[in-house]
Amino acid sequence: MQISFLTGDAVRSTVPVVIICHFEDDNRPLGYAAHADEITEKLVTDILSAGDFTGKKNETLLAYSRTEDGARRILLLGLGKRSEFTLDRYRGAFSTAVRYLRDRRITTIAFQAETTVHDFTVSDAVSAAVDGMLLGLYRFTPFKTTVDETAVMKECRIFVDNDADLKAIRHAAEESRQIADAVIFTRDLVSSPANEMTPAIMAAKALELASSSVRVTVLETDEIEKLGMNALIGVAKGSREPPRFNILEYTGAPETSSPVVLVGKGVTFDSGGICIKPSDKMDQMKDDMAGGAAVMGTIKAAASLSLPINIVGIIPAAENLPGGSAYKPSDVLRSHSGKTIEVINTDAEGRLLLADALSYGHSRYRPQAMIDIATLTGACLVALGEDLIGMLGTHDIIKERLTVSAKATGEFLWELPLWDEYNELIKSDIADVKNAGPRFAGTITAALFLKKFTGETPWVHLDIAGPSWASKDKPYIPKGASGCGVRLLVHCLKNWNALDE
Ligand code: BES
Ligand code: MN
Ligand code: ZN
Repeated sequence: MQISFLTGDAVRSTVPVVIICHFEDDNRPLGYAAHADEITEKLVTDILSAGDFTGKKNETLLAYSRTEDGARRILLLGLGKRSEFTLDRYRGAFSTAVRYLRDRRITTIAFQAETTVHDFTVSDAVSAAVDGMLLGLYRFTPFKTTVDETAVMKECRIFVDNDADLKAIRHAAEESRQIADAVIFTRDLVSSPANEMTPAIMAAKALELASSSVRVTVLETDEIEKLGMNALIGVAKGSREPPRFNILEYTGAPETSSPVVLVGKGVTFDSGGICIKPSDKMDQMKDDMAGGAAVMGTIKAAASLSLPINIVGIIPAAENLPGGSAYKPSDVLRSHSGKTIEVINTDAEGRLLLADALSYGHSRYRPQAMIDIATLTGACLVALGEDLIGMLGTHDIIKERLTVSAKATGEFLWELPLWDEYNELIKSDIADVKNAGPRFAGTITAALFLKKFTGETPWVHLDIAGPSWASKDKPYIPKGASGCGVRLLVHCLKNWNALDE
């Protein structure tokens, strides 16, 4: 969908449909709706007094205007109660509106950038509307041989009252578009079936992001072995698809400025390996590279926004299968850090390849901070459900920043304790650590395991086992891959200040 900006009045334009927002508490049109009401000869007032539309959250009503010139139709869009209003609700409402209109084969729409959307600036409101529309319209169609080309939203015209505001609003919307493009890039990777998203294909996708500010290095098996990353090698051994170790270095600040390292789990399919998973819903495990895809999307956005910071994305990628040479319970792996790991469960593979990546990130870059993102534990899904990211880590300021970014972006998270006592649960009899403990506190023991490979680097772990995939439509996340983490991380990095300042 193309977005264009015009100064002027949306309802007086000749656009087929103009979106008009209304809060549930208001018994008469207010703000831009009041103006639209006048232009349309009290159409909004009539609809409200008839009770056909009350403004409930995401409620829509398409009505024909009686005016001769100007918009032919208006779409009333409910924003719910004023007291509950957030930018995330605005995202959801605009997503609902464009999807409703697209399904009715409407291809061009408009709305007025409102200065009175609650307490938010007009730029923030427009950005949120753009987020909602672009993310909500997403569909994954490469594997459909027939696609309905008539249901495509082509253009949204955003009207701004005066020229003075136009520049700032357009800039904000442009940034939203760039970030949405990165989220969609990530969703496409995660939506792709496992036979079309192998470690090699993922590496090729990473190489596509190379540019003047992004250096991409892909390590193959022999180099991975040479670096002593035997945990990653171990996971990959049961598959004919060789592993990859992808490094994306984005330079937005002087080379001397210590980077933030992002590590993303890139298990392109997780069958569980020798400890094989039940077949029911195993297909879902194509999304086990969602963390890695989120890191790639974040680097893509950072580069297109020219963020003034250095960022290194590290994505260890492998396929976890139970082939004849697969790693097995009881194997001991000598990791990149030198620490030995006893394999108890081959389905706890994510922490193994992350261990090597975190250790590499910490020792190679001496970063100011390290954040990993991974579909790591079913236990996190049990604890927090599908909507929330689990957060655990060693550094309060990074956790605070991520919490602020979560609220701003609507990528909500909840902190779980990194409870040191539970290290008991992952002690090995014969090696330094084992890769799985008992069922209880599974998210915590996974994070405690990772912590052992982060050295002194301030570190936070994000478990996205729940929100990486939407099992049903959400307001601006169509059922399927969500692109979880990209908007959160980009927001955090956009507002980043060096931790030692
Ligand atoms: N990729 C899974 C975690 C997962 C499960 C993500 C369900 C999304 C939905 C991970 O590799 C895994 O299998 N974890 C095991 C760990 C256990 C064997 C210690 C789990 O959660 O059961
Ligand atoms: Mn697993
Ligand atoms: Zn996994």
